[in-house]
Amino acid sequence: MKNIWIIANWKSNKNIADSLDWIAQVGPKLQRQSNLRVVVCPGFSALEEVKKAILVGNYPIMVGSQDLSPFKEGPYTGEESAHNLAGMVELAILGHSERRQNFGESDEMVSRKVDRALEAGIIPLVCIQARETPVPPKCELVAYEPIFAIGSGFPDSPESANNIATALKQKNKDLEVLYGGSVNGGNVANFLAQENISGVLVGTASLPAEEFLAIIDKSL
Ligand code: PGA
Repeated sequence: MKNIWIIANWKSNKNIADSLDWIAQVGPKLQRQSNLRVVVCPGFSALEEVKKAILVGNYPIMVGSQDLSPFKEGPYTGEESAHNLAGMVELAILGHSERRQNFGESDEMVSRKVDRALEAGIIPLVCIQARETPVPPKCELVAYEPIFAIGSGFPDSPESANNIATALKQKNKDLEVLYGGSVNGGNVANFLAQENISGVLVGTASLPAEEFLAIIDKSL
């Protein structure tokens, strides 16, 4: 049975209070299911509180960061190193198109971030924007996120996403490929029904707790 990853990317939206409110609403409603991996990715400022709330509630939710530093720990003002995040996060979203566009993140930098994540025991989830985007060699989890689909309300078609996933898996059969871009409760099942799609990365529709729960509901 393939894994189903449902990953909430909150971007810069929730402060600590908003984050804890969401966890309190979503956590108790989640069922434990062996192939379902629910991950929440808050901003750095809320990571620790979110992690604690999940541990205290014993909720089946993993915590991820939305980035990490390409450098090891050291004199890099403003950076969050993988070393500092280890133990708090199990996964890191790397190379999101918003980082590539707004912060000049290159493929080479993404690849260095993947190395730092792996050294620290953090699963790198690399976002690729097109079939041609390089997938760093040791990366086993990617999200195909076409730029036109992000936050637009116009997702790619499930068939097109599956074609890309199939092409990527031909190069590395162990790669798990997620889809991201305008996923919601109304379309998630169509993506998950595709043979080579192993989950979704959700931005806008992950923000209201009830909308995220509707996505989980449609994914089971
Ligand atoms: P969206 O964002 O669901 O709002 O399109 C997805 C993402 O940026 O990962």
